[in-house]
Amino acid sequence: MLHRNYSNFYKNFTSESVIDLFCQIASLPLGYNSETLIKAASSPEMIQMLVNRPALGVQPHSTWAKTLEDSFMSVAPKGLSQVFTAMCGSCSNETAYKRHKRGLQAAISDEDLSSCMKNAAPGSPDLAIMSFNGGFHGRLFGSLSTTHTKALHKVDIPAFSNWVSSPFPSLKYPLDQHEAENAKEEARCLAAAEEKMKHAKTPIAALIVEPIQSEGGDNHASPKFFQGLRDLTKKYDILMIVDEVQTGVGATGHFWAHEAWNLTTPPDIVTFSKKFQAAGWFHRPDVRPDAPYRNFNTWMGDPIRALQAKTILQEIRSKELIKNCRDTGDYLKTELTQLEKKYPGTISSVRGRGTFMAFDLPSPQDRDTFVAKLRAHGVNTGGCGPQSVRLRPMLVFQKKHADIFLDAVEKVVRGQ
Ligand SMILES: Cc1ncc(COP(=O)(O)O)c(C=O)c1O
Repeated sequence: MLHRNYSNFYKNFTSESVIDLFCQIASLPLGYNSETLIKAASSPEMIQMLVNRPALGVQPHSTWAKTLEDSFMSVAPKGLSQVFTAMCGSCSNETAYKRHKRGLQAAISDEDLSSCMKNAAPGSPDLAIMSFNGGFHGRLFGSLSTTHTKALHKVDIPAFSNWVSSPFPSLKYPLDQHEAENAKEEARCLAAAEEKMKHAKTPIAALIVEPIQSEGGDNHASPKFFQGLRDLTKKYDILMIVDEVQTGVGATGHFWAHEAWNLTTPPDIVTFSKKFQAAGWFHRPDVRPDAPYRNFNTWMGDPIRALQAKTILQEIRSKELIKNCRDTGDYLKTELTQLEKKYPGTISSVRGRGTFMAFDLPSPQDRDTFVAKLRAHGVNTGGCGPQSVRLRPMLVFQKKHADIFLDAVEKVVRGQ
């Protein structure tokens, strides 16, 4: 029997009953028609925000500070005591890129003010955001220059041509059986990143990285790799932005995926969206703009979405959903690995943390066919990278749902 939150949406809209493991591009935390979210949606507070939407940068409602405390700030990553709210994942990254050390350190001169009006230095400085091959950080003007997944997303759009990207580790799975060669690969990528930092034509102001490259193919790297990156960003005075738009809010078995790295110094900025139903970024106090309007737009987020985030957090806590992701994820990984062994040459490279999981098919066409066949068996999944299938179930996904999915996978690999 399906969890009531699982099949309703598709049933209502397509008359087909589908178990959804892709969840509106990894963005549904509690499933469809969550009673708790429906109740919260009809609260007087929510209705007031709905009909009187505030411009949060200038005239927030008197409850805004408390809403921020009860929602985002209650799960702020260690070391990051402030939050900037935004409208979407790309907007979060895009606005985070506007905060960089150079801008923070320099006092603004008259020359800065006059030159920036002509898009010229020194007021409009030539600075770069460094990213990784295979990374995805959005599709707005700046964020697209740090996105390196599908050419079709980028073609015809002017790019910041001096913004460098560096190789991300290409690891072998399962990770615990390939430790030595994976460590070598990560060392190679760290050396390449340092070369880019050392020799960049345009000074690098910030570096952005996903804890697990998602759109790019669910590419993992070890805590040691990320600690190495943190050390490099410190050495070269570069802000470290961790993009938790897809990995954040519990699915990996940690609230923030980067918690698993145990960094010696926290990242400077952590961006979020998707499963929080709200977007923005956490940061250290010194990353905050020193004057109003330096990072600004009309709405600057949405109090309705922040109230939803607060309700999502209440559910995560009261139902122990992060533990649920760990337990269900362990089960799913064990069972998928069994299928990988039982049917060699079909699915491979089962990998993941919590329920944030993926596996590969032999070719891109095989992957597309596999996703289509799963759908015909009533299971919705997503593709990522050239030939991977990614699973992004809701946080309420349990073993009984996993069994339905596993049964469909077995049918598809057996050609049924
Ligand atoms: C890691 C990551 N960053 C940024 C984005 C962009 O978010 P949005 O589509 O909300 O602009 C995405 C979207 O998939 C993402 O996965």
